[in-house]
Amino acid sequence: MSDLDQLRTDLLAAVDSAEGLDALDAVRVQALGKSGTVTGLLKTLGGMSPEQRQSEGPRIQGLREAVADAIATRRDALERAALDARLASETLDMTLPVDAVAAGGVHPVSQVMDELAEIFADLGFAVATGPEIEDDWHNFTALNIPETHPARAMHDTFYLAGDHERPMVLRTHTSPVQIRAMKAAGGTQPVRIIAPGRTYRSDSDATHTPMFHQVEGLVIDKGITLGHLKWTLETFLKAFFERDDIVLRLRPSYFPFTEPSAEVDVGYTVINGKRVIGGDPSQGEGGWMEVLGSGMVHRKVIAAGGYDPDQWQGFAFGCGIDRLAMLKYGMDDLRAFFDGDLRWLKHYGFGALDVPTLSGGVGA
Ligand code: PHE
Repeated sequence: MSDLDQLRTDLLAAVDSAEGLDALDAVRVQALGKSGTVTGLLKTLGGMSPEQRQSEGPRIQGLREAVADAIATRRDALERAALDARLASETLDMTLPVDAVAAGGVHPVSQVMDELAEIFADLGFAVATGPEIEDDWHNFTALNIPETHPARAMHDTFYLAGDHERPMVLRTHTSPVQIRAMKAAGGTQPVRIIAPGRTYRSDSDATHTPMFHQVEGLVIDKGITLGHLKWTLETFLKAFFERDDIVLRLRPSYFPFTEPSAEVDVGYTVINGKRVIGGDPSQGEGGWMEVLGSGMVHRKVIAAGGYDPDQWQGFAFGCGIDRLAMLKYGMDDLRAFFDGDLRWLKHYGFGALDVPTLSGGVGA
């Protein structure tokens, strides 16, 4: 065996028996490094005669390539083995509790909006939205609110300055979404929506803030009666307050966009000096509390929404969400809802992952 063959055998054996990446690199330096054996042989080519170089050159180059290939193959194998060993030893215990991170909470208003969407989804209602900056046609005219109606007065309504095709307002209620939902349904399909959202009025005291939240409900179909309205409200309030002994009282009232109109009261009882929704309001200090306005959609409103009032009927209601939250979760000052005081939010807010849910649904 020539010296070159011997060297090749020795080097390949050393590569094969290198037990780790460090040992392998030592072999590489020893053979292919600056003063390595193979590098040394390559250097001798310069001093050879052309004939010698022609025969020795390819042999020495071949040796260098064979050693370099063997090292690359061995390095791959060693790296794969190292990874396998790491994967086998590093296990992840999925049952360990995660560190609690102080994430934000869910505001009671958001919580109540989620509950409303859930309850009404079970009854077949979709959630609809409309703009908070509304034109006066959608906010007033289409809802049969005449030019002279006091609700239009500057001291109740925030008007936007500027030159608009129509006067623009911050919507004073969610009722304009009735018109938008009817228009979207095209005058031919039944409509069943709720529309929760922000509303604005020029008002401020312990029970009124300039911005507040309402939820609108609207059903347009054929053969809709007051009975459907009452059943829907009863089912909604029982699910929302999570009590079966909720009693309602419909009081005749007036809204320009419904005829007839009714204000809806729920019965409360007094327990340990606190008013609690539900129970027999005629007992003890019990009584009635107004929670929403409602009625059968006025013919003019049905027509403004693009429906034929001789064929389609419907009911609508509007309810203060903040007030619902106060009644269910026991806050007493509405202004605190929007102060952003962290102590209040921590006390009344809901953890993002442990919000109460009504996922049992209506009638569960
Ligand atoms: N939009 C009325 C309000 O803000 C509430 C309402 C809505 C009444 C729908 C009847 C029907 O007071």
